[in-house]
Amino acid sequence: MPITLTWTGHATWLIDTSAGRIVVDPFFDECPTATMKAAEVECRAILITHAHFDHVADAAAIAKQNRAQVVCNFEISQWLGKQGVGNVFPCNHGGRVAIPGGTSKMEIAFHSSAFADGTYGGNPGGFLLEIDGVRIYVAGDTSLFSDMERIGRIGLDAAILPIGDVFTMGVEDSVEATRLLAPKVVLPSHYGTWPPIEQDPQAWAAMVRAGTAAEPRVLGLGESTTIG
Ligand code: NI
Ligand code: MN
Repeated sequence: MPITLTWTGHATWLIDTSAGRIVVDPFFDECPTATMKAAEVECRAILITHAHFDHVADAAAIAKQNRAQVVCNFEISQWLGKQGVGNVFPCNHGGRVAIPGGTSKMEIAFHSSAFADGTYGGNPGGFLLEIDGVRIYVAGDTSLFSDMERIGRIGLDAAILPIGDVFTMGVEDSVEATRLLAPKVVLPSHYGTWPPIEQDPQAWAAMVRAGTAAEPRVLGLGESTTIG
């Protein structure tokens, strides 16, 4: 059964499944390009890749207003607990938990993960999702790493990859990541929010078409697409 992906800006994605909506890395109210406010977000679950502000900013508010399940690392779960968030499923690399419509496995990522006040935010991660029979890899903030070939062996319907450079992999490395992951569809993320991570997504898409077998899908802000 197909699922719907919506890019609301930066690294924030809505995943609409047969069992309800999942939000990845909620960053709305202070995101310069966000197409929604946190108060408008209805969801059943929230996935958080790491503790940086641009990935957790609205997590507590959205979790509380929706009584949503949160999947994140142990350190972020403790931080959310102090803010009164219940229903948190802490996990770590390799850990699989049930989410609406399927499962989420926390994957490795090469990045950092401190909270805005400098305290330790645990390891950064990515997510390998199997929802409604559709397999999606959300890389989170990361550099290119060769285990992407291993992650892709499962047979990915889609991969969401950062292309912004500076803080994550950039255009060229995300094309190589696409080659290793071998997804059917690849979607760019974590770019265009601020000047340091401006990119030309159409140039990226042309490189993906030329160098991989994947179909690049560049979504506009607030735009949705169907996978599966
Ligand atoms: Ni980050
Ligand atoms: Mn980030």
